[in-house]
Amino acid sequence: MTSFETPVENLVLVAGATGGVGQLVVGKLLEKGFRVRVLTRNAKKAEEMFNQRVEIAVGDIRKPATLPAATQNVTHIICCTGTTAFPSTRWEFDQPPNLIEWGVTFLNPQSSQAKAKNSPAKIDAQGVTNLVAAAPGNLQRFVFVSSCGILRKNQFPFSILNAFGVLDAKEKGEESIINSGLPYSIIRPGRLIDGPYTSYDLNTLLKAKTGGKYGVVLGTGDKLSGDASRIDVANVCVECLFHLTSSRKIFELVNQGQRPPVINWESLFCQLE
Ligand SMILES: NC(=O)c1ccc[n+]([C@@H]2O[C@H](COP(=O)([O-])OP(=O)(O)OC[C@H]3O[C@@H](n4cnc5c(N)ncnc54)[C@H](OP(=O)(O)O)[C@@H]3O)[C@@H](O)[C@H]2O)c1
Repeated sequence: MTSFETPVENLVLVAGATGGVGQLVVGKLLEKGFRVRVLTRNAKKAEEMFNQRVEIAVGDIRKPATLPAATQNVTHIICCTGTTAFPSTRWEFDQPPNLIEWGVTFLNPQSSQAKAKNSPAKIDAQGVTNLVAAAPGNLQRFVFVSSCGILRKNQFPFSILNAFGVLDAKEKGEESIINSGLPYSIIRPGRLIDGPYTSYDLNTLLKAKTGGKYGVVLGTGDKLSGDASRIDVANVCVECLFHLTSSRKIFELVNQGQRPPVINWESLFCQLE
């Protein structure tokens, strides 16, 4: 059952809009007729990317004071923020580590998390918690891009992926959303493929297709593994807004099997326990 037909009063905030999945989410929302506000740390980047077709709210999910202006009057939030699972320049260390310090960083996950300003703990756990706290009480849906492996952190290969705590941090983010009482959809994709389309413009994003090769498989209980197309992760984020059957659900997404001519999202959501 479709819950609504994109009424004009809907305003969707996309956090992480300049990222691989986020850009595709924005493209898909515009295609479906939603009004879109993007939360970004870099207004210029967002302006160039989205051709003035979105509202821009400058903010940072680590800084709670920057969030109320961004979340004001929004009806839905789609959160696709993230950083690398392993230490990189995107973790924003105070001073760029030299070669020896990089070695120490890799040998000491706890201390590297503490030294980094934009680590998974800062974004996926604390940042998401801040965004949830700033959400309007009458929000219709909080959609969160989490990750496969949350319930398999001690199993290979997820034990390696979690060496620097990315899955621990995503789990804390999930808990904040669930405990908030807001209606949510939590997506746990497999390894992301397709894109990011960071050097493309909006028209290219609107045309992004999966190549039509693989079907979409959703599952619960964190049992699925495999690749997930950023395009289908973006598709499911937006489809969740149309389907009440996706509310208060936590599910994995991977691409497997033959792709049907049309993906029946309602049927996929209904199969979830
Ligand atoms: N890579 C994988 O295989 C994989 C697997 C499963 C799940 N995931 C998850 O899937 C999601 C999307 O991945 P992706 O590769 O498409 O993302 P991405 O390209 O890495 O984009 C991340 C986004 O987060 C934003 N961001 C980072 N720190 C922020 C902060 N402090 N405040 C506000 N925004 C911030 C970035 O904005 P700026 O432009 O300002 O940096 C960017 O828009 C992520 O949550 C990731 O953890 C990834």
